[in-house]
Amino acid sequence: MAKAPKPPKSTSKDAKPGRSVVLVGMMGAGKSTIGRRLAARLDIPFVDADAEIERAAGQTIGEIFEAHGEAEFRRGEERVIARLLDGERKIIATGGGAFVNDRTRNRINDKGVSVWLRAELPVLLERVSRNSARPLLKQGDPESVLRKLAEERYRYYEQADIVVDSSTGPHRDVVDAIVKKLRDLEAAPKGKGPSKAAAATR
Ligand code: S3P
Repeated sequence: MAKAPKPPKSTSKDAKPGRSVVLVGMMGAGKSTIGRRLAARLDIPFVDADAEIERAAGQTIGEIFEAHGEAEFRRGEERVIARLLDGERKIIATGGGAFVNDRTRNRINDKGVSVWLRAELPVLLERVSRNSARPLLKQGDPESVLRKLAEERYRYYEQADIVVDSSTGPHRDVVDAIVKKLRDLEAAPKGKGPSKAAAATR
C-alpha cells in the first residue's frame, strides 16, 4: 500500500502572520527587544513606534514631552501607529500608553494581531531603572508611577488578542510562546475561533 505523504515539517514560516503583530504592554515589558527577535524569527520587518515618532518629530520623546506636553506626544503616537498599520505587514513595538487610546486600540485590533507582553511590577521596575529616558517616570517615584499606570492600563491590555508573560526566562522562550499562540490564532480566524480569553491562556 502506498505510504501517505508525510505532513510538511513545521517551520517558523507556518506561523508567519497574515497581519502585522503589535506588541503592547507596560514600559520595561520588553516590547522592543522581543519584537526585534520575533521579527528576525518570522523574517518580517520590525518597527519601533517610539523611534518612528522621534524620527517624524525630529526630537526625542523626552524633548517632545518637555516642549509640547504629553497630549501632543499622544497625538503623534496615534498618527504614527495608524500609518504603520496601513503599510506592509510587520512587527510593531508600541509605547506603553498607545493601547490605552481607544482609536489606536481599535485600529490595532482591526488591522493587526495584538500581543500583550505581561511582566510583574518588580521586573518592570528593575528594567526601567536601567534607562532614565522615560519622561513619565520622572513625574514621581518610579515604583508608584508604574503601579498607578498598571492599575489604569491592565483593563486595556487585557483586550489584546494574545497574552504572553515576559517576566522571566530567556527571550527565546517568550518568542516561542508568541509564535505558538500566533499559530493557534491564525488557525482560528478572528470572531470564529476561541474567545480572546481562551486564546490568552497565561
Ligand atoms: C510611555 C512609554 C514609552 C514612551 C513614552 C510613554 C508610556 O515607551 O512611549 O515614554 O506611556 O508608558 P516604552 O513602553 O517603550 O517605554
